[in-house]
Amino acid sequence: MGFLEMTMKQDAVTYVAGHAGLIGSAVVRRLEREGYRTLITKRRNELDLQNAAAVDEFFEEVRPEYVILAAGRVGGIMENQSFPADFMDENVAIQLNVLKAARKTGVRRMILFGSSCMYPRECPQPMAEAALLSGKPEPTSLPYAVSKLLGTYMCLAYNKQDREARFIPVIPNSAYGPYDNFDPKSAHVLSALLARFHEAKVTGAQSICLWGTGSPRREFIHADDIAGACVHLLLEEDLTVEFPINIGIGEDVSIKELAELIAGVVGYRGELNWDSTKPDGAPRKLLDSARIRSLGWKPRIGLREGLTETYRWYVNHLKTAPVPMQVGGDNRTGAQVSCA
Ligand SMILES: NC(=O)c1ccc[n+]([C@@H]2O[C@H](COP(=O)([O-])OP(=O)(O)OC[C@H]3O[C@@H](n4cnc5c(N)ncnc54)[C@H](OP(=O)(O)O)[C@@H]3O)[C@@H](O)[C@H]2O)c1
Repeated sequence: MGFLEMTMKQDAVTYVAGHAGLIGSAVVRRLEREGYRTLITKRRNELDLQNAAAVDEFFEEVRPEYVILAAGRVGGIMENQSFPADFMDENVAIQLNVLKAARKTGVRRMILFGSSCMYPRECPQPMAEAALLSGKPEPTSLPYAVSKLLGTYMCLAYNKQDREARFIPVIPNSAYGPYDNFDPKSAHVLSALLARFHEAKVTGAQSICLWGTGSPRREFIHADDIAGACVHLLLEEDLTVEFPINIGIGEDVSIKELAELIAGVVGYRGELNWDSTKPDGAPRKLLDSARIRSLGWKPRIGLREGLTETYRWYVNHLKTAPVPMQVGGDNRTGAQVSCA
C-alpha cells in the first residue's frame, strides 16, 4: 500500500487551482499517478479567482477537503517591471478570495505558494524561513513579493487564530518543467534560455548574447519535485514543523553554468557572449530546505535530467508554444535573472 493510500481517502475532494500551469499541472500529474481520482479543476474562463462572489459560490457548492492554490500572476523581471499593479492586484485578490472561502467552508488542508522573491535582497545564504521580513526584497519584483508575503502571512494568521495547522504556505525556488512559459517576453530565465538556444540551433546562429556577467547563482527545482513535496505536506498526519516551508534542491548553479548546461542539452555549438553592462540582480538565491527535509521529503530530479526532459517536452509542444525571440548579436536577454 502506498503512502497516499495509507493516509488519505482517495475520494477526498481536492481542488487544484491553476491546474494548467507549470506547478498546478505537476500536482495533478502526481495525484493522478498515486491513483487519486476526485480532482476538481477549473480554467480561469470557468472560474475567475479574482471574483470573490464566484469563488464563494464554488467553495460552498464543491466543499473541497484539500486545496492546492497554484493559480496566480507569475513572470520574469520584464513582466514584473511592466505590470507591477497587475501583479499586485491579481495575486492579492486570488489569495484573499481563496483563503477566505477555504476557511469559511472548512477545508482540511490547503497549500499556498509563496516565492523566494519574498526574502530580503541581501539575505544570508542559504535563505532560512526565519529571515523573512528581516530586510527589503529585490526592488524590481517588490509588488509581487509583497503580494506573496500577504498570502503567506494570512495563512499564518488563520492558523494562529483558529489554533490549527490547516493553511500551509510553501516557498519553492525557481521552478521549471513541462507546461512552463517559454514566451521570452514573460518567461523566467531557464525556460527563456531553453527557447533561445533551441532557436539559435535551428537557425544556425553563430552566437548568443546574454545579459549580465553570468555570475549570479540560482537554485532550480523541477515542478514534479515541488508537486511531490506538496503531496507529502498534504498527507503528513502530524505536521509539527513551523510554517512557512522552503522547497529547494539544496544546490545552485551560476547563470553561466546554466547556459552552458542548456547549450549542451539543446546541442547548440555557437558562441556565448555576455553583456556585462546589463544588470546581474541578486548575487545568490539558495534556499535552506532543512524544514521540509526534516519531514522526510527529498528531491528526485537532477538539473541535467530535468532539463533534458523539459527540452524534449518543449520540442514536442513547439507547435502550440509561443514563438521564441530571435537570437544572435542583440541585447535581448530572455529574462536573464528572474523572480519566481
Ligand atoms: N514558476 C516558479 O518558478 C514559481 C516559483 C515559486 C512560486 N511560484 C508560485 O507558484 C504558483 C504557480 O506558479 P506557476 O509557475 O505554475 O504559474 P503558471 O504556470 O503561470 O500558472 C498559473 C495558473 O494560474 C491560473 N490563473 C491565473 N489567474 C487566474 C484567475 N484569475 N483565475 C483562475 N486561474 C487563474 C492560470 O490559469 P489559466 O491557464 O486558466 O489562465 C494558470 O494556469 C504561483 O502562485 C507562483 O507565484 C512559482
